[in-house]
Amino acid sequence: MPLHRQSAVGTAPIWFVTAETWPEIRAGLPAPAQAFAAACGFEPKPGRTQIVPDAAGGIAAILFGIERADARVRDLLLPGRLATSLPSGLYHFANMPHDATLAALSWLLSGYRFSRYKGDGAEQPELCAPPGVDAERVERIAEAVAFGRDLVNTPANDLGPDALEAAALNLASHYHAKASVTRGDKLLQTNLPLIHAVGRASDKAPRLVDFSWGDPAKPKVTLVGKGVCFDSGGLDIKPEAAMSLMKKDMGGAATAMALASMIMAANLGIRLRVLLPLVENSISGNAFRPGDVYPSRKGLTVEIGNTDAEGRLILADALALADEEAPELLFDFATLTGAARVALGPDLPPFYTMDEALAADIARFGAATQDPVWRLPLWDPYDKLLDGKIADLNNISGGSFAGSITAALFLRRFVEHAKSWTHFDIYAWTPAAKSGRPEGAEVQVARLLYDLIEARFGAGAKIEQPEAKPRKIVRRVKETSAHGHSSDDEGSVFDDLVP
Ligand code: BES
Ligand code: MN
Ligand code: ZN
Repeated sequence: MPLHRQSAVGTAPIWFVTAETWPEIRAGLPAPAQAFAAACGFEPKPGRTQIVPDAAGGIAAILFGIERADARVRDLLLPGRLATSLPSGLYHFANMPHDATLAALSWLLSGYRFSRYKGDGAEQPELCAPPGVDAERVERIAEAVAFGRDLVNTPANDLGPDALEAAALNLASHYHAKASVTRGDKLLQTNLPLIHAVGRASDKAPRLVDFSWGDPAKPKVTLVGKGVCFDSGGLDIKPEAAMSLMKKDMGGAATAMALASMIMAANLGIRLRVLLPLVENSISGNAFRPGDVYPSRKGLTVEIGNTDAEGRLILADALALADEEAPELLFDFATLTGAARVALGPDLPPFYTMDEALAADIARFGAATQDPVWRLPLWDPYDKLLDGKIADLNNISGGSFAGSITAALFLRRFVEHAKSWTHFDIYAWTPAAKSGRPEGAEVQVARLLYDLIEARFGAGAKIEQPEAKPRKIVRRVKETSAHGHSSDDEGSVFDDLVP
C-alpha cells in the first residue's frame, strides 16, 4: 500500500508524545480530548495508543507514546504498530517521531498481509507522506520487502525451483537485466556439480539463475542467495519439528531478489549480478547420500557428512562462479544453520566477513535502518574441522559446536578472488509479530545493504519506472506436462507470470 500524497488537511492527526512533550501537547488539545485521555488513564509510554474524540464523536487525534529522545533504546519502527491498530481512514503525523522515514516505512511494513490464499481482511488505515520523507524511496523499499516476504510465505507446492526461477526471471526482465538459467543435467556440463547433486532427487530440476544488470564499467556487486524451496533434509531426514517451516529455506534467494529489486528500482550506480541456485532437497532413488563424494566447481572434492547440510553445497558452486570475476563486493544470504538461531535468536542474523571496514559499515547501517545484524568470527582454528577423510573437505564439521561458524568457514573455502565477501546466516522468519515485522516471512539484511550500497556507490540517474510492480509475480505456475510434473526444460514456465 502506498503513502498518501493528497493534502493532509482534514485527515486525523497523530501526535507522538514522550514523557517530556506530553504536557505541552496535551495543553494544545481540545478540552474534550484532554478529558477523554485522562479518563482513559493515558500515559505517554512507548507503544501506548489513544484515540481521542471531538465533540461530535469523530476522531480528534491519535496519541502515540514513544521513547524519550535520550532513551538508551529507541524502537524507530514502533510507530508502524499504528498501521495494525488504528481504524481504517486517512492519517498524518502532526509532529515528528524520532525518525519519520523509518516510521513511515514501518507503517508500510506492518501493513503487509500475505493474501495469496485468503482475503486481505479489513480495510487498513493509510498514512499521508510525512513532510521531508522521500515517499517514493520508502515505497520502493516496502514494496521489495513485501515481494520477498510473498516468496518466503508461499509454500513449496506453489513455489518449487520452477516457480522461483520464473519469479527471478520476471524480476530480471522487468528491469531489463540479462538473464540465463542452467537446469538439470546442464549443471553437470557447465561444472556446477554440487547444485546438481543436491537438487537431482526432486522432479523439479535443480537450476542456477544468473542475471546481470547495470553498466559493466561500474563497480561489480554480486548477490548469491540460497534457494532451497523445501528442505526435507534429504536422506539424513529432518525430524518433524525441524521440517515444518522448511518452505522458507529459499529465504536467501528471496533476500537477494528483494535487494536486487531495491537496487534496480533506484537505478543505483553499480553493475549488479545475482546468482540463485534453486533446488529442492528431496528424497528419492537418485538422492545424494551420506558418504558420497562430489567434485565442486572450484575443483575441491566434497565428502557428504550429512545431506541436511545442503545449503552450503549449492552456495559453494554459486560462490565459486561469482568469485571468478573478482567482484568488488560479494554478498551471500542463506538460511544456513539452526546454530545461528541458537546463538543469536531469530531476529539477529550473524554475518561473517574479513573486510574490517565493511564490517563496521554493516553494523552501522544495521543500527541506522533497524535491520539488526551481529558479526561472528571466521575463526581460523575451526577451519580444519572441515577436512575430509577421503576428500578435500566434508560438508559438516563432525561436532555440534559453532555450527554457524563452521558453515561460514566451509563457504570461505570457495571464495578466493572477490575483493570483499560477506556471508549472512539469516532466519527469514518472524515467529511473533513486532512493529514493522508481521508474523511469518521476513526479509532480513536487504534494507541495511540497500542503504549501504546507496551510500557507497550513489544513486543513479532517475529512470522512468515501468508501471507494473514486481510484487505481483508470485502467481501460480502453469503445469506444462501431461503427467503432472511441471516442465523442467521449456523456457515457457514463466510466460504465465505477469508483473
Ligand atoms: N535449512 C537448514 C538450516 C535451518 C534450520 C535454518 C532451521 C533455519 C531454521 C539447513 O539446511 C540445515 O539443515 N542445517 C543443518 C546443518 C547440520 C546438518 C550440520 C542444521 O543447522 O542443523
Ligand atoms: Mn538442511
Ligand atoms: Zn537448508
